[in-house]
Amino acid sequence: EKNDIISPSGIYKYLNGNKHKIVHLDEVNSTNTALKELAQNGAQEGTVVVTEMQTGGKGRRGKRFFSPRGCGVYFSLLLRPHCTAEKSLFITTTAAVAVCEAIEQVTGLNPQIKWVNDVYLNEKKVCGILTEASVDFENGGLNWAVLGIGINIAVPEEGFPEEIRSIAGAIFDGPCPVEMRSRISAAVISRFFALYKNLGSNAFIESYRSHSFLTGRAITFSLGEETYRGVVTGISDEAHLLAER
Ligand code: BTN
Repeated sequence: EKNDIISPSGIYKYLNGNKHKIVHLDEVNSTNTALKELAQNGAQEGTVVVTEMQTGGKGRRGKRFFSPRGCGVYFSLLLRPHCTAEKSLFITTTAAVAVCEAIEQVTGLNPQIKWVNDVYLNEKKVCGILTEASVDFENGGLNWAVLGIGINIAVPEEGFPEEIRSIAGAIFDGPCPVEMRSRISAAVISRFFALYKNLGSNAFIESYRSHSFLTGRAITFSLGEETYRGVVTGISDEAHLLAER
């Protein structure tokens, strides 16, 4: 539905309470970059930047995140965690759990987490997560963290670009149902903040495990110079991948 824009009021409608400030941009380079700027200027924890499309969507390891108009939800959440930089590594894994649970709740589908933090549905990647943070060297904590989430809701008319075609998928095969993007983003936001309250305890880990895509699968992995073959046996309490050679 071409006219189905994601509006703050559309998201508020599905959020319990209005404690989040939601900034909606029709188009932006990257919601992470836009929100980092707001963070530097003192924006509050819980501030959200959401957009219809990104011209320079950022992925992990310097890659791009394909973010076409009308086909996905691209948003970033501002966090001001009161924990060590080390504990804050759970932000991304917690977000993967929140995305899975939100998609389940809204659509009834069963996505999985491909360690560390990609969300998969039917063997295809439907969501990527990128957290960027500013470390406070005085106390080893964080000044802020920007949690960026991109979910492919529908397949673009012309299909995914060649480079990612074998990996990328979308939640729906056909067109995106009306208000779906607002409902999914609201569900992710509320689920994430509920889990984030207990970031120190790893309460999310059971759900992470039960959504694990790699458990039981054969993998190859490298340690130093050596490459090994093994089978994934599970996920540790620290969210490390466990494998047997
Ligand atoms: C990855 O899969 O490598 C991570 C992709 C993260 C994409 C999201 S979309 C919203 C936010 N803004 C960005 O520029 N990136 C994240």
